[in-house]
Amino acid sequence: MKIAIVTGASFGLGRSFVRRLDRLGGLDEIWGVARRRNRMEELTAELSTPLRPMELDLTRPESVEVLRKRLEETGADVRVLVNAAGFGKFGTYADMTLQETGDMIALNCRAAVALTAAVLPHMSRGGRVLEICSSAAFQPLPGFNVYAATKAFLLHYSRALRWEVAPRGIRVTAVCPGWIKTEFMEVARDTKNGRTVRHYPFALRPETVARRALRDSRVLAVTTCGLPALVQRAASKFLPHCFIMACWEGLRRL
Ligand SMILES: NC(=O)c1ccc[n+]([C@@H]2O[C@H](COP(=O)([O-])OP(=O)(O)OC[C@H]3O[C@@H](n4cnc5c(N)ncnc54)[C@H](OP(=O)(O)O)[C@@H]3O)[C@@H](O)[C@H]2O)c1
Repeated sequence: MKIAIVTGASFGLGRSFVRRLDRLGGLDEIWGVARRRNRMEELTAELSTPLRPMELDLTRPESVEVLRKRLEETGADVRVLVNAAGFGKFGTYADMTLQETGDMIALNCRAAVALTAAVLPHMSRGGRVLEICSSAAFQPLPGFNVYAATKAFLLHYSRALRWEVAPRGIRVTAVCPGWIKTEFMEVARDTKNGRTVRHYPFALRPETVARRALRDSRVLAVTTCGLPALVQRAASKFLPHCFIMACWEGLRRL
């Protein structure tokens, strides 16, 4: 049985990946992972590929075990893994609770690594892993500090993993887009000081990001899915990070 696994499938970018994978076809099932089962069930109706909703909170380590067991029981061949579950919180170190920073690290880093490790033994030649990072990964971001750091972690993890699994014919891509029009901002603003970032220039539609990411994952180790984030990536390579942080500080206060 050929399957794709998409985390964060209940909304936003993850949901767009499910729709795109369904349109591309060639899969027997898509497994969606998120906490809100009802949102995934609503999506089932519009798909031609069967969607298996898995209601799991990925900040809990035991959730990955549930998925690992299901993979062992079914013997599924995972063709595509998209790790899209993730969130950020606006605010400085003084605004964040330990719970918020801990959950960000648990979901954006630990769960992504644990899930990838659980899935890789069930992937064969031609399989693809898309780790949803962010253009926030390219440089430190004051006022969005822990989120940017979690995405830098995931970017580095993805790049090295690509080399590790290349002999097996599996491709890993770090997807690093800029702003996307999803519920992300609503979740990010819900903190003690959610106004540290006020504008989301050049925000892309999630459908566009999913389409470009799946296309680019056939070849690229890193994709930004758009020009503004590509410029940001280049700038972070060639300009001092303190200069980019100064620009960010100015822009986010506008
Ligand atoms: N939006 C942006 O501007 C932007 C830019 C660059 C990168 N990204 C990245 O893109 C990815 C998707 O974000 P999005 O924009 O689609 O945000 P979103 O609309 O808020 O969707 C987040 C998804 O993650 C799931 N999720 C959240 N916490 C979870 C948990 N504890 N366990 C399991 N699933 C959980 C949510 O489902 P439930 O609530 O049902 O669990 C939802 O399906 C994230 O990794 C984000 O960092 C976003």
